[in-house]
Amino acid sequence: MDTITSSHGLSKLRPQLPIDQADIDSLSPVLKEELERLKSIFYVSTRKLIEISEQFEKELQDGLDNYGSNISMNVTWVLGWPDGHECGNFLTTDLGGTNLRVCWIKLTERHGETNVIQQEYKLADDLKTGESDALFDFIATSLGDFIEKHKLGGTKDDPLKLGFTFSYPAHQDYIDHGKLVTWTKGLEIKGVEGEDAAGLLRQAMAKRDLPIHLVALINDTTGAMIASAYNDPETIVGAIFGTGCNGAYMENVGSIHKLRTDLPEETPMAINCEYGAFDNAHNVLPRTEYDIQIDEESPKPGEQAFEKMSAGLYLGEIYRLVVVDLYEKGLIFKDQDASKMRNPYILDTGFLSGIENDTSPGMADTKRAFIEKLGFEATPEQLIFSQKLAEYIAVRGARLCTCGIAAICRKKGIQSGHVAADGSVANKHPNFKRRWANAMGEVLGWPVDREEDPITITSAEDGSGIGAAVIAAMTLKREKEGQTAGIKAV
Ligand code: BGC
Repeated sequence: MDTITSSHGLSKLRPQLPIDQADIDSLSPVLKEELERLKSIFYVSTRKLIEISEQFEKELQDGLDNYGSNISMNVTWVLGWPDGHECGNFLTTDLGGTNLRVCWIKLTERHGETNVIQQEYKLADDLKTGESDALFDFIATSLGDFIEKHKLGGTKDDPLKLGFTFSYPAHQDYIDHGKLVTWTKGLEIKGVEGEDAAGLLRQAMAKRDLPIHLVALINDTTGAMIASAYNDPETIVGAIFGTGCNGAYMENVGSIHKLRTDLPEETPMAINCEYGAFDNAHNVLPRTEYDIQIDEESPKPGEQAFEKMSAGLYLGEIYRLVVVDLYEKGLIFKDQDASKMRNPYILDTGFLSGIENDTSPGMADTKRAFIEKLGFEATPEQLIFSQKLAEYIAVRGARLCTCGIAAICRKKGIQSGHVAADGSVANKHPNFKRRWANAMGEVLGWPVDREEDPITITSAEDGSGIGAAVIAAMTLKREKEGQTAGIKAV
């Protein structure tokens, strides 16, 4: 038990637990009222969740039926599940928002040893808003550096095989092609939208004579799904709950009505849903004034409506906007220096989950985080308020995150299985999985007294490493068998 004394809040003996009702009752009436308002605007009821997931199901279907839909339901040309016997050595690279990761992967069949050597290359800030050439030259140079450093060899006649994880909405005519539709997650590199990202990387590698053959361009969700399925046959969906949000699942070719192909109707095809763009028309999502502000001030207003309410890149920013609003209304942080607080995107999900799960005496950890990030020392009352606000935003995000997956499961009649999930929100927020599971039960009507959840989140295997390698292996095998659908010989 810790003794914390103060004129407002936390002024009692309490165990080291997140704050409780008595702490909230100790807030000044104005702040208490404000907290009530925030609680209600961020709360998504069961009924609303069901309404959202029903609309989700319609938009998923629309994306399978038509090109140019909100949710684009991109075909990936990953035809079916891995059989677990995929083997070989592969180079993989993954363009994330902060780093470029390069791996060398030795696949030795399901349950065998998979060896990975990896290295991260820092993506400088000016690359994120610069020109296309600079980005692809950087990727090619990093690949060149990596293969030289690790003496991986490769020749013109027998090049190293590459799986390229490109986690942005890309339209794929072939598995080794991906035309970027629009940048997401804050990237703004000029000259790539509308272009084939695989082709741009190929050109940059050719300039350097790199002995590398780009076999497949993949999305992180498809990578997570296939990497997990390589070892876990109960995998049903690959999902990313991270900086961005999205999911992939396996569809029958015959149900992808927009696709013209000679493949038999029952052929399984992985679909990269790109469901971060759900409800861009703003029909059902319960957007608050803060969500509207995030959207309007983002580089891409009107895009990624669902992602902007639920993904890691935005949760800290929603929090910051609320706090700035209340500061301006004179409701909180009155005598504090608010200059740092005005910096967009200064707070990340780590900050939010840190506040929410702070059980240190007197919320000393949060106090420190405020000093570090925002440059001022919060009072006990402000700390209580902050913790509840962080909770409301995170709970809403986790509950919304069920809607896309529930819609996929309902659409496909999936009753049980594993959602292979990756990303900072899923992995670093200790309450995420529990909140997600509860909301999933509400949406799918699971019995309240169930002993276990029929659909559960599992930690995805390394999608952009092992997943990309397995997909490259599956593609080469199809090529060897003379199958040509979705494979362009370059
Ligand atoms: C991208 C998706 C990606 C997701 C998770 C979204 O912003 O559009 O392609 O799968 O983020 O990384």
